[in-house]
Amino acid sequence: MSALIPRPRSEVAPGAVHVPDWLTLDEQRHLVAECRRWAMGPVPMRAAQLPTGHRMSVQTVCLGWHWKPYSYSRIADDAGGGRVAPVPDWLVALGRRAVTAAYRAPAGDYTPDAALINFYDATAKMGMHQDKEERSDAPVVSVSVGDTCMFRFGNTTNRNKPYTDVELVSGDLFVFGGPSRFAYHGVPKVFPGTSHADCGLKAGRLNITLRMTGLEDT
Ligand code: SIN
Ligand code: MN
Repeated sequence: MSALIPRPRSEVAPGAVHVPDWLTLDEQRHLVAECRRWAMGPVPMRAAQLPTGHRMSVQTVCLGWHWKPYSYSRIADDAGGGRVAPVPDWLVALGRRAVTAAYRAPAGDYTPDAALINFYDATAKMGMHQDKEERSDAPVVSVSVGDTCMFRFGNTTNRNKPYTDVELVSGDLFVFGGPSRFAYHGVPKVFPGTSHADCGLKAGRLNITLRMTGLEDT
């Protein structure tokens, strides 16, 4: 939601920057429409299975590289066996603009080659974890559309305190890199019914993270 009182950009931890209201409503609607398309295939959106046998409450579809707990591949062997679709150039460009906006500096060689699209219904959450399947310490770019959530951004040592809780609202950008690249983070709660009427998503929350994997085809 674009708040009446603008929310300020804030550096939550060194290298971890929250930029509220970064996406326009047009960009949010476009992202939602594309996410709906990506969710259909060639690899369908699904709730990934954890090594414990439990399924995640979040549903995920990927571009560039398919992620399943806890590795990347080009083929989605846990979701129908299709080959993952590429990251479109416009999304790479959005990732570069995001890094520039967050760090107020040129994006350099930032070229995300993987996108994870996560859908949260009213009860979905994501436990504290590190994004560490990548072989690169390039920043992770995160954009959110739909319902507001509580995003918990922690430390690089463990899943516990100290952490900071940040409300991510539809259109918000969050980038974590540098000393915060491998910080634990998670989504303890989505606030149902908080989505902006014009963002393209009536219920639930979409989050798109862009990453540089540092991986190459073998
Ligand atoms: C993630 O940690 O991959 C997703 C974070 C979010 O949904 O904001
Ligand atoms: Mn993550």
